Amino acid sequence: MRTRLDHLVTAALQQGSAVPAFTCYDFTTALAVVGAAEDAGHGVILLVAPKTAGTSNGLRLIAALRGLADAASVPVAVQLDHATDLKVMADAIAAGADSVLADGSSLPYEDNIALVREARAVLGAGVVLEAELGGLAGDEDRAFGSEETGGDPAGVAVAGLTDSAQVEDFVARTGAQLLAVAVGNVHGKYKGEPQLRWDVLQDIAVRTHIPLVLHGASGIPAGELVKAAAMNVGKVNFNTELRTGVLSTLQEQLTAHRADGENLQGLLGHWNTSAREFATSALGMLTR
Ligand code: 13P
Repeated sequence: MRTRLDHLVTAALQQGSAVPAFTCYDFTTALAVVGAAEDAGHGVILLVAPKTAGTSNGLRLIAALRGLADAASVPVAVQLDHATDLKVMADAIAAGADSVLADGSSLPYEDNIALVREARAVLGAGVVLEAELGGLAGDEDRAFGSEETGGDPAGVAVAGLTDSAQVEDFVARTGAQLLAVAVGNVHGKYKGEPQLRWDVLQDIAVRTHIPLVLHGASGIPAGELVKAAAMNVGKVNFNTELRTGVLSTLQEQLTAHRADGENLQGLLGHWNTSAREFATSALGMLTR
């Protein structure tokens, strides 16, 4: 069913839960995620990468996700993730997304604020805006970081941390409804064990009432993630771990399904099962 992302997250936090958000590059994964959420009886967020939304096929995917979200028996939000381009944001909203992460985290502080304000001006008051303060290392679409940063298969090292002293000013001036933070999290595979800075998160949490968002949740142990909601982290983003699981499953199953009459339908069934199991475990971990 249709929901507002901020309402979904706030309602979850009131129950001591966080809402998982999963990057969907395709409809098979989205069907699996929504199926898992319906089984669990909890809401979920479908994320669309900006590289996806920047294409005409990607906009058609967003329209399909909108239909899927509206027809679901649980609240489902569709968010454009990590967007910097105002046209991509406007196109994604026109196609059916209901919220945007206007991500100026790699920009100087004032430019980050300006981007979020421009997004608000272009998208209007009805669109829920997440903003990000403190840049995350890694590439949102690749496990080992971007080509520019070397793509080290050993993983991605943590970059900066959110400066908690900026939080009140940033939230007030951007009008963001959710705040993504950098507290030792990275996009993609972690170099070594993830070391979340709970002290920094705590310091951020006392400075704003808007829900916080933890990106780069793949690879963070369940025992850590369960603590997030108590610090007002109401949305937790997963991508890499979902892809790793699906790709391993496809690799395992490919030969047998080729031999079985080029059985793509059977292979897609395994894709669905892998993504659904991952979504089910994330929902179980984050919801009370
Ligand atoms: P991971 O790929 O590290 O799980 O991060 C996902 C994410 O934060 C999407 O915005």
